[in-house]
Amino acid sequence: MTDQAQTAHAAPEEFIEKAHIDAGRYAEMYAASVKDPVAFWGEHGRRLDWIKPYSTVKNTSFEFGKVDIKWFEDGVLNVAANCIDRHLPTRGEQTAIIFEPDDPKDPAQHITYNELSEKVNRFANVLLSQGVMRGDRVVIYLPMIPEAAYAMLACARIGAIHSVVFAGFSPDALANRINDCGAKLVITADTAPRGGRKTALKSNTDAALLHCSDKVRCLVVKHTGDQTTWIDGRDVDVKYLMDHASPDCPARPMSAEDPLFILYTSGSTGKPKGVVHTSGGYLVYAAMTHQYTFDYHDGDIFWCTADVGWVTGHSYIVYGPLANGATTLMFEGVPTYPDAGRFWAVCEKHKVNQFYTAPTAIRALMGQGPEWVEKYDLSDLKLLGTVGEPINPEAWNWYNDHVGKGTRPIVDTWWQTETGGHMITPIPGAIPTKPGSATKPFFGVQPVVLDPTDGHELTDTAVEGVLAIKDSWPGQMRTVWGDHERFEQTYFQQYKGYYFSGDGCRRDADGYYWITGRVDDVINVSGHRMGTAEVESALVAHAKVAEAAVVGYPHPVKGQGIYAYVTLMNGVDPSDSLRKDLEAWVRTEIGPIAKPDLIQWAPGLPKTRSGKIMRRILRKIAEDDFGALGDTSTLADPSVVDDLIENRMNRG
Ligand code: WT7
Repeated sequence: MTDQAQTAHAAPEEFIEKAHIDAGRYAEMYAASVKDPVAFWGEHGRRLDWIKPYSTVKNTSFEFGKVDIKWFEDGVLNVAANCIDRHLPTRGEQTAIIFEPDDPKDPAQHITYNELSEKVNRFANVLLSQGVMRGDRVVIYLPMIPEAAYAMLACARIGAIHSVVFAGFSPDALANRINDCGAKLVITADTAPRGGRKTALKSNTDAALLHCSDKVRCLVVKHTGDQTTWIDGRDVDVKYLMDHASPDCPARPMSAEDPLFILYTSGSTGKPKGVVHTSGGYLVYAAMTHQYTFDYHDGDIFWCTADVGWVTGHSYIVYGPLANGATTLMFEGVPTYPDAGRFWAVCEKHKVNQFYTAPTAIRALMGQGPEWVEKYDLSDLKLLGTVGEPINPEAWNWYNDHVGKGTRPIVDTWWQTETGGHMITPIPGAIPTKPGSATKPFFGVQPVVLDPTDGHELTDTAVEGVLAIKDSWPGQMRTVWGDHERFEQTYFQQYKGYYFSGDGCRRDADGYYWITGRVDDVINVSGHRMGTAEVESALVAHAKVAEAAVVGYPHPVKGQGIYAYVTLMNGVDPSDSLRKDLEAWVRTEIGPIAKPDLIQWAPGLPKTRSGKIMRRILRKIAEDDFGALGDTSTLADPSVVDDLIENRMNRG
């Protein structure tokens, strides 16, 4: 196997010398973490400030039917106090958040911990004045502006549960999330500039709220000052209220297991699930992974390019870095505006030390040529990271050569919305990397490779199968909002006694893990997770569509593209304009990230005699790999396959 023959890349000596964790220390700590998780996490839980220290560390069961996950359960703390208040005596004047706006001609902001404290306290008082109470849900639909962090931390301060909805989602998607979690309030902005264009967030919210209870209030951040509609009694100007609110709001003591946030994510079936993370375990895990995976040291400038609408933004823009007293950069824009050098211009301008992005962004920039990187002084960079999908060798080499100048460790971090933080990742001073491998487990994480046919654990070192985790870790999701049964069915039913990740994986002879992609009907488009069932149900909701089947196919920049097979209603003729209509339809039903890349008109779909769509065949045709269709004899009508092959959209 080529990956095993590959030479592993060790971090430079001088990096290892300064690193928190070297190879010996990793081995020691990892062994301790799995031998006695209670002792290990009992010790590391103390990295936070507890109002009342925990006496119980771990109380977890993966037994199907009785899945129950609790960490530090009798401990009492406040997440916002841990991210802000406790730093004030020592680093009140240090920058907490650097805000880099969409337009490079606009000034950046440096928000100190003292300023962050004042903003969050005022924001928390605004929430209280609007009747938000402990345990209430607050939906946040904001661009990448400091107010998004203020809003999240203000919720945490008063014990409200936030649910951030990515600003790229449509009004319908927003309404579904507001309704599913029963939010009392939604926080949005007038408009959101991104890449020089503007998204009308307030008018999207207006459209969403038509489908929600009229008790839901709307807090508006006047960010650009663009004009919006305004409904007195429902819409509230946050900045105005903040200016008139008290700068003191006591941090509410919360139980470690009180929910901190809900984040919706796509699954293989049905509507998106509300992933629930709680306070104590999540914050311990986000903070610890931030420190060790990125080898973060005091004074470093950390930049994660994700959006706060995804878990990556929660854990590595807001909670992990701020819990560590770090300086975290928030970027409102996109990598290619005003040109393909923007990421590197921002790295140079703010002297970024750790840079964390997605392979899809690297591939997009790689296509623009290395001269965009070479224009900038990137000498402050100490480490690079990737997340979201496996990184292909070309992208890894480009990142390593041009951005890292061959001397910065690259950490490829495998994790999920459900896991709260990194699960399989190199610890940079300890684990030599192999391009394309997420390498080894983080402390306390016990990955196993299971045989997908009967679920038994493959115990040899070099094996391939599906990836599961043997025991709980503090950052693990606790339940699906309002549907614990779905939580158990999704993650604990198929392989009894394990948390099932939904990913396939290979472990090589050195014990390195290589993620091979989803084994369920979830696809990964530009690092965004998308359920094929969601796109299908959007398509069939269109009056002219009778049936639809959606699969992923390899896409040079996005990783995977969305390929839709559509059967039209009787009497409807296919046309290019209908194709455009369907694309626009999916954009409004879900959001631009769900727009199909390719739509093939399918007179029929390959089905078994019992009516089940044979997705394996559709995947093969979409991959332009129909020579290996396998057994089609169980199809009700094998001739539909010939038509699909003949009219396939992805050739060459
Ligand atoms: C899925 C989770 C949490 C990070 C952002 C995505 C894929 C994530 C890697 C990686 C290979 C990866 C997996 C996983 N994935 N990181 N380093 N190498 N695959 O979070 O939206 O919950 O998606 O992203 O397939 O299951 P998410």
